[in-house]
Amino acid sequence: ERKDEFQRALLSWFWRARRDLPWRGVGDPYATWVSEIMLQQTQVITVIDYFQRWMARFPDVQSLAAADEEEVLEQWSGLGYYRRARFLHRAAKVVVDEHGGAIPSTLEGLRRLPGVGPYTAGAIASIAFGLPAPIVDGNVIRVFARLFAIAGDPRSTANQKIFWELAEALVDRNKPGDFNEALMELGARVCAPRSPACLLCPVREYCAGFASGEPEALPEVARR
Ligand code: ADE
Repeated sequence: ERKDEFQRALLSWFWRARRDLPWRGVGDPYATWVSEIMLQQTQVITVIDYFQRWMARFPDVQSLAAADEEEVLEQWSGLGYYRRARFLHRAAKVVVDEHGGAIPSTLEGLRRLPGVGPYTAGAIASIAFGLPAPIVDGNVIRVFARLFAIAGDPRSTANQKIFWELAEALVDRNKPGDFNEALMELGARVCAPRSPACLLCPVREYCAGFASGEPEALPEVARR
């Protein structure tokens, strides 16, 4: 089936070409959570150092929950969007006080934590717990807009619904975390905003944007 072939093509590319990043293959939901919060607004290359220092200082959710806010913000210093660090700190206290230190293992449970939206919940659920949860971020939006020729403002309610439904329908049931990371990594390294490297793309034969000859025309730039 076409979907299985698409999944296999994307996953085998990822397994061959993925970067060895410090939060990969750790199998610790706390590490996944910290990395995904950092990666929300910050590039992978910058996050690497911060992640390693953070994990050295706050190796588990208990040590984070017990820390002073001042030190939490100091460890975050330079990453920007400090609200992320305050949420992470508050959520660590909730996990320790209300869940016995265990990070929730369902989408619903994750979503109740401060600062955990649909993207972060899906990332933790799929990467750390192996659940077939969808994720949509800026990279995934670009990849899907091109693959399926989705026109119009990618942030519109109608298009957001389409992106989340596609992510839900396509996510590999056996390797959901790898599949989701593969989509993001494809968007970051191959399906680039201005000059996508279609000749290196493992899924170009499925791509409407590649077929059109003008993949960089999608997604449309929202006008204000
Ligand atoms: N961007 C956000 N999360 C990511 C991940 N887990 N892998 C690659 N890029 C990402």
